Amino acid sequence: MKDQQTVDLRSDTVTQPDAAMRRAMAAAEVGDDVLDGDPTMRALEERAAELLGMEAALWVPTGCMGNTIALALHLRRGDRYLAPRAAHVLDNELGTAAWLAGGMHEPLDWDAGPGRPTPEAVARAAGSSGPYYRLRTTLLCLENTHNAAGGAVTPPEEHSRLVAAARAAGLRVHLDGARIWNAAVALGVKPAELTEGADSVQACLSKGLGAPVGSLVAGTEDFVAEARRMRKMLGGGVRQGGVLAAAGLVALERMDRLAEDHAAARLLATGLTEMGFAVRAPQTNIVLARVPDLQHSLARLREAGVLASSMDGCVRFVTHGDVSQADVTEVLRRIASSGCALRA
Ligand SMILES: Cc1ncc(COP(=O)(O)O)c(C=O)c1O
Repeated sequence: MKDQQTVDLRSDTVTQPDAAMRRAMAAAEVGDDVLDGDPTMRALEERAAELLGMEAALWVPTGCMGNTIALALHLRRGDRYLAPRAAHVLDNELGTAAWLAGGMHEPLDWDAGPGRPTPEAVARAAGSSGPYYRLRTTLLCLENTHNAAGGAVTPPEEHSRLVAAARAAGLRVHLDGARIWNAAVALGVKPAELTEGADSVQACLSKGLGAPVGSLVAGTEDFVAEARRMRKMLGGGVRQGGVLAAAGLVALERMDRLAEDHAAARLLATGLTEMGFAVRAPQTNIVLARVPDLQHSLARLREAGVLASSMDGCVRFVTHGDVSQADVTEVLRRIASSGCALRA
């Protein structure tokens, strides 16, 4: 990175496919995935199902579509679903869980820590059955890592306790694992250990793993057969999708690299804390800095050649494969030399 080049820390979705990924895409063996299957799509879906510890998986263009498909299959009109406060399905998917999947929501407080409800809160919110005109709570939607909580991780034992509480209350469980790969790398466990007991999981290829497009929605064979129909209803069936799946296969091989993003996030958080900013120690690749005037801070950062975004009232910096530790050091230098303008 040269001195005045902009450093883009808005999201890990800004990563560009590199030469190896583009070569794999160009060489992909393809078929018609809507008609009778595409061999590279199939290879990706099988590999993803194995990594996620689910029977089967389906490629979808985006994480939002993956979540919408899962919720549409789990919920019926008049159903309610529970999700941790500020979950992506609650705040960042334009209410599709309600208007496409038919579910009403109830946010759960972060009683167990950032982004994490307690099993007791799940049991309480699930409630008991009432008269026929009451909303019926049928689904718990978890998020690991939790984006708006700063990439917060739910460890496997805690995930299992939440699933058990949901099961005991008769709820199904969907896991929004857009960044499940980050959680697995941060915890040093296999992604499958973080999906145990879930009926479905959504996992993104286009975030820290660096694919240009694509997510997986996974579950039982039957669930995925229905998900395939729902994907078609939403206009998400693609033909020679192997070109895109090839990027996903390369991306999955690069999971371990996420540890570098986590180290870069720690470096950034340490530097910001030393400068006096209110920053929680990051568990993965997201750093949230609380500032008095968010828009002012984002504008000053932009002037200094640092792009960041806003999340849950904080400045959000996301580290990713296209920024190095040297870039992060440069970001800290720019923030320091702009006179701590971030703090307003
Ligand atoms: C937790 C979470 N779920 C779902 C999504 C949606 O993914 P996409 O942008 O691919 O629709 C995101 C995107 O940032 C996310 O952070």
